[in-house]
Amino acid sequence: MVSNITKTYSTSEIRALKARYDKLLAEVSLHDRLYYRENNPRISDFEYDCLKSEVERLREILSVYAVEIEDTAIGDDRNSGFQSFAHLSPMMSLSNTYSREELFQFSSRLEATLGQRKFSYIIEPKIDGIAINLIYRRGKFFRALTRGNGTVGDDVSANIKTIKGLPLEIENHAEAIEIRGEVYMDKQTFIGINKIREEQGLEPFANPRNLAAGTLKTLAIDEVAGRDLKLITYAVGHCSEKIVNLQSEVLELLKNFGFASQEKYWMAKNIEEAWKFVEELNETRHIFPYWTDGAVLKVNELQLYEILGATAKSPRWAIAYKFTPERATTKIKNVVLQVGRTGIITPVADLESVQLSGTNVSRATLHNADEISKKDIRIGDYVTVEKAGEIIPAIVAVDGTRRSADSMPFVFPKTCPSCGSQLIQLPGEVAWRCQNLCCLPQIQRRLEHFVSRTAMDIDGLGSAIIEKLMAVKKLNNIADIYRLTFDDLERLEKFGTKSALKILSNIDHSKNRPLWRLLHGFGILGIGEQTAKILANHFHSLDNLIAATPEELEQISGVGIKLSHGIVSFFREQHNGNILDDLRMLGVVPGDGRLEISRNQNSKFYAKNFVLTGTLSSMTRQEAAEKIERLGGNVANAISRQVNVLIAGENCGSKLGKAQSLGLEIWNETDLLENLNGVVA
Ligand code: IVH
Repeated sequence: MVSNITKTYSTSEIRALKARYDKLLAEVSLHDRLYYRENNPRISDFEYDCLKSEVERLREILSVYAVEIEDTAIGDDRNSGFQSFAHLSPMMSLSNTYSREELFQFSSRLEATLGQRKFSYIIEPKIDGIAINLIYRRGKFFRALTRGNGTVGDDVSANIKTIKGLPLEIENHAEAIEIRGEVYMDKQTFIGINKIREEQGLEPFANPRNLAAGTLKTLAIDEVAGRDLKLITYAVGHCSEKIVNLQSEVLELLKNFGFASQEKYWMAKNIEEAWKFVEELNETRHIFPYWTDGAVLKVNELQLYEILGATAKSPRWAIAYKFTPERATTKIKNVVLQVGRTGIITPVADLESVQLSGTNVSRATLHNADEISKKDIRIGDYVTVEKAGEIIPAIVAVDGTRRSADSMPFVFPKTCPSCGSQLIQLPGEVAWRCQNLCCLPQIQRRLEHFVSRTAMDIDGLGSAIIEKLMAVKKLNNIADIYRLTFDDLERLEKFGTKSALKILSNIDHSKNRPLWRLLHGFGILGIGEQTAKILANHFHSLDNLIAATPEELEQISGVGIKLSHGIVSFFREQHNGNILDDLRMLGVVPGDGRLEISRNQNSKFYAKNFVLTGTLSSMTRQEAAEKIERLGGNVANAISRQVNVLIAGENCGSKLGKAQSLGLEIWNETDLLENLNGVVA
């Protein structure tokens, strides 16, 4: 940061400035420790940068008056538990600014130093992650180091290797080359992890950078793999051979080596043009999969870097322009308590509508009761709202000076605002839960989740329709979705024939969605989209998953002990078992990518419901079920009127009697083989 010292200071003023400098330096050092070592910052990046900028300003004044001062150190992220190694060339930091004027001053300094030499700019997104140094020796991955103190970093090679697509070999045969980049967690993964945490009653992670940093510094490798970290590379550090001339060529080279590259970058002839691209980045960055907190402006011509040189901490050929987080002040009209799918009560602030980053904000999550009491948030308060990570509006501060004299602390209720059941707080959880599974908002949220885009993706069946269908008792659980008829839908207020038919067709289409979608749709505690995909890839069919033991599940990377027990108990639960049977009978047969469902409507299996019992001699029941499903049939566990055929092997139990009493068709193994004959390879 740059400042102009125009004022003359007296000796006592200088003494006061020195005292302030020492105090702020101690504060910076505290926040450095919280940020770099503990990944748990107490202030926002913006507040930290303001603090650092004030320290720099004081340092400049004090140095003019020749006052001896301690300097700010570069942050250090090293932790015990990891081995440290030296970087082949130092990992510096970037000087940064929030001001357009200072960006133009950076350009003037470049012009002054470079004189007649021609240069241009490259503008890259500044990825909000953790710096990483990847060392390759003769083209083979050798080691990954965190920045550490800039000279020595922690060896996180094992964790880095969990990143999908990390090239272990690159087309470069230099004795040693350092590839520099940023490890991050993408928006979708972060939001998904927090959603699961909130469902589990745990405090959500504050921001993706800290979560990615904490994950990268975890010694439990399985946990790292489950967190799906990503990497973007943007620079070459040390290289024993000269390779390219421009930074833009570096980015292309990294892409050719097989690394994920920047979402977008721009080249500009001058600072005016560069500024336009910085603004363009600010407009478009919300669509990037990673969070960007600014733009990095670099001189594109690499041969000029030596002439431009560096300060003790940062190079003079680059600067980070950081986007000021947009904030607004508004009033809390009310605190609404929402009942979630898992019974968790989430307090939400109902705000006087305010414009923030181009959108109208009228609600902000308050997360949980602790958060309300920690910040002492009250109805009627004036608060500052900020869009955390550009997406979710959050309350960052309460303006105590505008609080009315009769305002009272918010009292979190002891009973469910919807069904009146006693709320409980489970050990280790911050959330309060309603444990009544029949509590209507919970059922509605479960249905909404099941049809949502990341689960069964049933377009048209929105919350309002679900609510109305629940009110007339047409929807009580997820299986009921597949029982809906044209009449059920058409009877709903203002519902046209065309819309009703469209929804029914969307419901029908969802029946063979991939297995992971169905698994995610069940809403099993802790099973987000990612884990659902891991499970589907491992088991390929619902029956294989249902048959899995906790021990078997624990072995799967990204599942772990807690989830494995949750999965097993979910499938063992009687009501859930019945709903699964109903789904099968209603034709919900997830595809696994391998299973090609036959649409031969003349087959004896197509769209019929089967139950298998007893022992088959030519195949296992599981194999028989797969064959039936491949021919478009459904296989259920229990006998009911919706079953068409019972296939009875040797030593069958009570199912045979029950099927006979209901007058169902019964096949023995020979009947099964005859019907399969010629239709299954
Ligand atoms: S170039 C001398 N390019 O931001 C350092 N850094 O706050 C040269 N960062 O230390 C780094 N995106 O960890 C560069 N496109 C980008 C970046 C980037 C994020 C990080 C990097 C750097 C930090 C500075």
